Amino acid sequence: MQGTQIRPARTDDDERIRRFLAGLSLHTRTLRFFTGFSRPAASLVRTLLAVDEHRDALVATLDGEIIGHAMSYRGGVTDVEIAVVVTDRWQGHGLGPRLADALLRRAAAGGATTVGMDVMGENRRALRVIRRLWPDATMKVVSGTVEVTAMIDRAAPFAEQRSAASPLTV
Ligand SMILES: CC(C)(COP(=O)(O)OP(=O)(O)OC[C@H]1O[C@@H](n2cnc3c(N)ncnc32)[C@H](O)[C@@H]1OP(=O)(O)O)[C@@H](O)C(=O)NCCC(=O)NCCS
Repeated sequence: MQGTQIRPARTDDDERIRRFLAGLSLHTRTLRFFTGFSRPAASLVRTLLAVDEHRDALVATLDGEIIGHAMSYRGGVTDVEIAVVVTDRWQGHGLGPRLADALLRRAAAGGATTVGMDVMGENRRALRVIRRLWPDATMKVVSGTVEVTAMIDRAAPFAEQRSAASPLTV
């Protein structure tokens, strides 16, 4: 994973994020977006890159191309809701947890203390990662979706153990 960088998303990432989305398998796309769209709508691309007082977005890049994306938005039951996706080729290298760590550090710096995440019930891999990251997380099953809630300050010590590098670099 040498050479991988995590940085805030930018509006000029639109073509890169389109290529990233187009490169995801149907399975990964469905697990992340709960639907297997063929071409991403312009509104989805804008949403994935938006960074403002309500939303945050990070991308992981390798050789200038996006290989992972994480976003958070405020509101709902918890202070922030997050979603993470890593391109198929790079899943299993710890990038998803690192993106989540970096995103939650930024959310915590903005005052957030609770995090939520919606995961498809069949998404065993993501649920395993969540149990590892947040052992005390609450999981509620609603119509095939697992609604996860956890305290951000319990997640922070994990991030400290995992990442000796700068929070925005892996
Ligand atoms: C869930 C996700 C973000 C995790 O990111 P990641 O970088 O793959 O995370 P990790 O490297 O820690 O790997 C997670 C687990 O998947 C396993 N894994 C990853 N790729 C694998 C593969 N191709 N075959 C089998 N197992 C694999 C890892 O061994 C690890 O298992 P463990 O928890 O028992 O150690 C990523 O798998 C993903 O993008 N999935 C699709 C989108 C999604 O489900 N998002 C979450 C809901 S928003």
